[in-house]
Amino acid sequence: MPEKGRNQLKVLIRRAAIRKRVQEVAKEISKDFKGERVHLVGVLKGACIFLSDLVREIDLDSSLDFIAVSSYGKGKESSGQVRVNKDLDSSIEGLNVILVEDILDTGLTLSYLKRILLQRRPHMLKVAALLDKPSRRIIKDIEADYVGFKIPNEFVVGYGLDYAERYRNLKDVCILSMPPE
Ligand code: IMP
Repeated sequence: MPEKGRNQLKVLIRRAAIRKRVQEVAKEISKDFKGERVHLVGVLKGACIFLSDLVREIDLDSSLDFIAVSSYGKGKESSGQVRVNKDLDSSIEGLNVILVEDILDTGLTLSYLKRILLQRRPHMLKVAALLDKPSRRIIKDIEADYVGFKIPNEFVVGYGLDYAERYRNLKDVCILSMPPE
């Protein structure tokens, strides 16, 4: 893994492990919704790579939509205030919605998204998160229904996750450590 600038990258989850786990999660979803249609809602931009691998492994009638949010915050910290930058293209009323997230950290983004999506009366709303950092949770009762990997309290990039829009294209999930400012 090349070093980018002065930031250090260390592999946390290798691409082969990600591929295997994505297949397992897709299998679980396919079993839970057997015979039904699922509507996957990807949270841009971080979830785009997870979603595109996941949907291709799901053996169900599926459709896709995307929502883009940003949370105000400085550097690696989120402040908890979330703003929708791009809303869904179509109604989710009556659909089996699976919200696809890159990472569940404090839970503030997910709690906001669940609230606004539930107001639109889907038949069901489930959450699939590639990564979960339970030790960082501020919203205590928020969980994903499908979790790829529980990870320690480290800032990670790759497989869709970024730092200042960089590193999304890394094939492995890597820990990013930066020199102090
Ligand atoms: P939460 O609202 O604190 O749960 O944060 C969710 C969002 O923060 C994620 O969708 C990511 O965009 C971002 N985030 C949280 N932790 C990380 C990380 O370790 N690397 C990259 N982005 C992260």
